[in-house]
Amino acid sequence: MSALKILVIPGSLRTGSLNARLAAAAAHQFAQAGAEVSRLSLADFPLPIYDGDLQSKSGVPKHAVNLKRMIGAHHGVLIVTPEYNSSVPPLVKNTIDWVSRVQDGQEVRGEVFRERAFAIAAASESRLGGTRSLAALRLILAACQATVIPHQLALSFAGEAYDDMDRLKHPADIEALNALVRQMIDISQHEVR
Ligand SMILES: Cc1cc2nc3c(=O)[nH]c(=O)nc-3n(C[C@H](O)[C@H](O)[C@H](O)COP(=O)(O)O)c2cc1C
Repeated sequence: MSALKILVIPGSLRTGSLNARLAAAAAHQFAQAGAEVSRLSLADFPLPIYDGDLQSKSGVPKHAVNLKRMIGAHHGVLIVTPEYNSSVPPLVKNTIDWVSRVQDGQEVRGEVFRERAFAIAAASESRLGGTRSLAALRLILAACQATVIPHQLALSFAGEAYDDMDRLKHPADIEALNALVRQMIDISQHEVR
């Protein structure tokens, strides 16, 4: 059986991003659990704000196609998103919107969402830990007919949650991340051929 491949996508470009740090902690945890993990930066896949005229004129941007292919090369995807005004930031929504428009060769559009498991996590300085952003992201991914695993992690008070190595330091947070990782591996196993 080939190794289980997990892609981790932080939904923030900000230097010192709390969500990029959570993505790093999660990637470490997936690797500890035996998965082959890739972690990307959306800075490497810059996309204009979605505009149907732009798509009609120039097609879907190459970066969206490349990101779709990157996702397609993994059995499971973890998106780690900030919360902006109780929802997902434009970076995350816009990226999903463009990827959902990719028509790659003989593939049916949106297949990349339907054929693998997604997990979601958020980090915020607030007590709610980005819960509302997760609810919004779950809805968006469901609209793309993705399987979104039941376990999720909303990391509260995230500014105080990491040690010097960017690992989670509170036992309850570590257990919540481990539960997500275990369930993601269980569900993604079905994608391994
Ligand atoms: C426009 C904007 C809206 C925000 N709204 C929320 C919010 O609704 N809930 C929340 O917990 N944090 C909110 N925040 C704070 C972000 O969670 C915080 O800036 C966080 O550090 C962003 O994630 P990052 O560190 O990964 O970049 C908001 C920040 C911005 C810039």
